[in-house]
Amino acid sequence: MGACTGRHSKLHTRPSCTPPSPFPVKPYYITTAIDYTNGRPHIGHAYEKVLADVMARFQRRNGREVYFLTGVDQHGQKVQKSAEKAGLTPQQFVDEVTQHFTALWEKLNVRFDGWAATTDERHKKVVQAILQKLHDAGQLYKKSHTGFYSVRQEQFLTDKERGPDGVFGEEWGEVVELQEENWYFKLSEHVEWLKGYIQSHPDFIFPANRAKDVLNALEGDSQDLCISRPLERLSWGIPLPFDEKFVNYVWFDALTNYISFAGYLADEVGNTGLPSFEKLWPADAEIIGKDILVPPHAVYWPIMLHALGFPDEQIPKLVVHGWWNVKGAKMSKSLGNVIDPDQLSTTFTPDGLRYYLMRDIATGQDSDFNEERIIMSYNKELAGGLGNLLNRSINMAQKYRAGKLTPGGYDDAENQALRQTVAEAVPSYLENMNSWAIHEGIAAAWKIVSHANAFVDSTKPFSLAKDPAQAARLDSVLYHLAEALTHVTVLLDPILPTAMKVAREQIGWNLPEGFVFSDLKWGLLADGHQLGTPVPLFPRLELEAPAA
Ligand code: ME8
Ligand code: MG
Repeated sequence: MGACTGRHSKLHTRPSCTPPSPFPVKPYYITTAIDYTNGRPHIGHAYEKVLADVMARFQRRNGREVYFLTGVDQHGQKVQKSAEKAGLTPQQFVDEVTQHFTALWEKLNVRFDGWAATTDERHKKVVQAILQKLHDAGQLYKKSHTGFYSVRQEQFLTDKERGPDGVFGEEWGEVVELQEENWYFKLSEHVEWLKGYIQSHPDFIFPANRAKDVLNALEGDSQDLCISRPLERLSWGIPLPFDEKFVNYVWFDALTNYISFAGYLADEVGNTGLPSFEKLWPADAEIIGKDILVPPHAVYWPIMLHALGFPDEQIPKLVVHGWWNVKGAKMSKSLGNVIDPDQLSTTFTPDGLRYYLMRDIATGQDSDFNEERIIMSYNKELAGGLGNLLNRSINMAQKYRAGKLTPGGYDDAENQALRQTVAEAVPSYLENMNSWAIHEGIAAAWKIVSHANAFVDSTKPFSLAKDPAQAARLDSVLYHLAEALTHVTVLLDPILPTAMKVAREQIGWNLPEGFVFSDLKWGLLADGHQLGTPVPLFPRLELEAPAA
């Protein structure tokens, strides 16, 4: 950006010549779906937020400036209904529910920079400004429609939504026939543009194969999008600025969070305390689950931006993750199989849950929540693998050398092999993490852990310590272990931020200010380095998997 390139319609208020950014590189802007505030956070919510947090921490350690936005989706009919049922005002209701989300993010160390709550006045002003702009540009019109409406999904249904038996399936909940006058957005006018955009931008959606689903959905007749709800049916929403009898459809409102909280139109509407939109936009990753790709994020959202005059290079990128199921079934309140992340993070520690959520799924694919596997991942991998390695390495160095490391001049093939594993793990980790294969990034770092544990078993420091002639070799072995572990504490830091900090304290090595992955090289610990006191990092849990 910077030059006068791209399409700039008069709608798009960005100056046609963007002043040069004060930052040499655009910050990495990562955001997630905003969570509905009509229930409690479940493991799918926790997964998405941890995924975003891991990527934000990873990119920071990669040397990027990062802006991480997340939040809550507070309007809509479902919220209004739940509040009525609870005998609360919608605002009281969402305030109460929102606390459960913010408390969980705090507990799980999900550290975001911006909080997108759609009841925020700043957000409402931007949504209204956008609606007014689209209205002025002739992109909105009013018409009457008779049809079947799903209260649960808050949308009119078409024949496409009928099952093979001609009936609307259970997933739509209560379906009622309605005749209503509403405001529509000329979505269909932009469908050809969207098809072309998707075909010419293979990096729009990750994983790339999901683009097919979008193109399939765009086949056939396209319809315009109803963007209003009559006030008498829904009051808990943002009023249309040009027609007081209506509030805005919740998806239009919710999608706008990605720009309203990034500072879009801030000067025009008088918003403060938000980032500079010119500096931040477009989003490098809008992380969403597969259920909300089509139509909201892959159809409505790019078309909304396009109609507002955003040029093609300012369309955000989508990262679409899969679902956590339970014993092969979808989690649902009615099945009573909703997995509570708060409880899990109490049992397994916040890092233990973060680790499981990142190691047991491939971004883009589904996974099955499995209690035996979370127990295994904690007890076998974190406690038995990494924790034990740290503990015995520091313990031996304390016992034989009072914790003081002197690498010395000794070297041999075993030492070289361990150094080689470390040298190969770093680029493999970086490549995988950069391409959202977090589980493979973890596996790359874990090669160091496994090799170092095998290294203890084969070099037998406890035997070396008994033979004064092996003193130089013992020094080198203890140094290699501590140095390999120090690398691991940097690589796994985005996933296990609390535990890796504690591990570095035990090693006696603090991450230097501004340390980035490319600073990783053998020799982080100086000759004469003093190790700290070993304390079990992941105390083993006495848990048994429940009988299936
Ligand atoms: O969809 N596994 O909110 P939401 C993994 N407010 N991810 C899951 C999941 C599961 N079992 N269940 C849900 C909304 N998710 C809207 C979004 S964005 C402008 C508005 C994911 O609370 C889901 O795919 O139903 C979505 O990305 C996120 O959790 C919030 O879902
Ligand atoms: Mg949902």
